[in-house]
Amino acid sequence: MKEKRVGFATRIGAIAATVGSAVGLGNIWRFPYQAGYNGGGAYILVYLLCIVLLGIPIMMSEFIIGRSTHKNMKGAVEQLTPGSPFKIFSYIGVLGALLICGYYSVVCGWVIEYLWNSACGSLLEHAPEEFSNIFGTFIASPDCCVMWTIIFLTLNFLVLSRGIQKGVERMANIMMPLLFALLIVFCVNSLMLPGSTKGVDFLFSINFDKLGWEGVVDAMGQAFMSLSLGVTCLITYSSYFKDDSNLMKDAVTISSLDTLVAILAGIVIFPAVFSFGLDPKAGPDLIFITLPTIFQQMPGGTIWAVLFFVLLFFASITSTISLSEIPITFMVDEYKLSRPKAIILTAVQMGIIAVLSALSFSTLSDVTIFGKNIFNFLDFVGPNFFMLLGGLVTAVYVGWILKKDVIHNQLTNGGMHRSRFVQPYIIFCLRYIAPVAIVIIFLYYTGVI
Ligand code: TRP
Repeated sequence: MKEKRVGFATRIGAIAATVGSAVGLGNIWRFPYQAGYNGGGAYILVYLLCIVLLGIPIMMSEFIIGRSTHKNMKGAVEQLTPGSPFKIFSYIGVLGALLICGYYSVVCGWVIEYLWNSACGSLLEHAPEEFSNIFGTFIASPDCCVMWTIIFLTLNFLVLSRGIQKGVERMANIMMPLLFALLIVFCVNSLMLPGSTKGVDFLFSINFDKLGWEGVVDAMGQAFMSLSLGVTCLITYSSYFKDDSNLMKDAVTISSLDTLVAILAGIVIFPAVFSFGLDPKAGPDLIFITLPTIFQQMPGGTIWAVLFFVLLFFASITSTISLSEIPITFMVDEYKLSRPKAIILTAVQMGIIAVLSALSFSTLSDVTIFGKNIFNFLDFVGPNFFMLLGGLVTAVYVGWILKKDVIHNQLTNGGMHRSRFVQPYIIFCLRYIAPVAIVIIFLYYTGVI
C-alpha cells in the first residue's frame, strides 16, 4: 500500500516554515549591504515594487503547482500536463538547490564560527581595526572553514531527519518567533544610539540619482533570492500545505513578513553604522567586519554579538532546511527512496559542494570557473541563472500553459471563496511582467544591454 504523504500539521506551521525559508542571510546580510550600495530609500522602493509585481505572482505560481498536486515539480507537471517537456526543469531546480545550498552553508559556517568565538569571548578581545584581518584569516584557513561548514550541515540534516512535522515545522515554530523578538530588541537598541537618525535617513531617504539600472536589476535579483523563488523550493513546501489554506493570503503574509525582516535588519545595521562613524557601503563585509567593530565598542558587546549571531543562525538554518528539502522530497517522490536514504544522499552531495566552496579562499583559490573562484561562481550562477530561469519557467508554465480551472480552483479552494481581482492580477504579472523583467535581467548580466 502507498504510504500517506505527511504534510505540515497546521497552517501557522506551514507559514512559519515558509517564512523560515524566505528569511535568511538574504534578508539580514545581503539586503542591507545592497541597500547601502545602491543608496538606501530608492532601492527599497524599487524592491517593494519587485515584490508586488514579480515576487508574489511567482510565489503563487509555485504554490499553485505544488498544492494542487501535493507533488514535487516533476510529479506535478506529469499530473497537470501529461507529456509536457516542462518536467525537465525539475532537475534544474534540484541541481540549483544543491549548488545554492552548497555555497550558502559556507557562509552559515562563518556565522557559527563567529557565534562560537563571541560566546567564548575571543572575538571581541581584538582591537577594532583588527576585524578585517580576522575575517580574512578565517576564510583563508581551510581546516577551520571546512570544519564549521560541516558542523552546520550536520545540524541542518539532523533537523531534516526528524521529518516534516517534527523537524522542519517544529524548528520554524520555535525559531521564527524568537528571531522576530531578537530583531525588535536590536532595532530598539540601534535606534537609541546617539546619532542614529542619520542611519534612518540614509535608509529611507529616496534619492534616485544613486540608484541606476544596476540597482534596479539588483533589486529584482534580491526579490528572487529573498522569497526563495525559482528552484522549486516553494513548490516543494506547498506540496505539504493543507488543501484549505488560502494561498493568496499566505503568499501576502509570507512576503510581507520577509520584507519586514529585511527592513528591520536595515534599521538594526545602519543607525549603528552611522552612530559609530563607519562606512555604510562596506558591502558583503558589513556583517563580519563592521558589526563586530560596533559590538566591540558597545556596552555589553559580547551579549549583543552572541544574540546577533544566534539570530543569524536561526535565519540561516531554516533556509538551508528548505533548500535541502528539495532534493530530499524529489528522491522520495520520484525514486521511492526512504527518507533517511534520501537525506544521506543529499547530505553527501551537498557536503562535497560545500567543502569545495569552503576551500575557495584557500587551498582551491587557484581553481576558477569563468574567472571566479568556486564560491563566487556559485554565488553568481545560483541567483543569476538558476533562480531566474526557474522563475521564468514557472511564470510561463502557470501563466500560459496550465489550465485556467486549475488556477481558479487553487485560488478559490474549489469555489469556497472569491478571487475576482486576484486571478487577473496574478495571470497578468505571470504572462507579461515576469517574463519581460527576467529576460531584461538576463540580457543585463550577459552584457547584451
Ligand atoms: N530566501 C533565503 C534567503 O533570503 C535563501 C533561500 C532559501 C533560497 N531557500 C531558497 C533562495 C530557495 C532560493 C531558493 O536567504
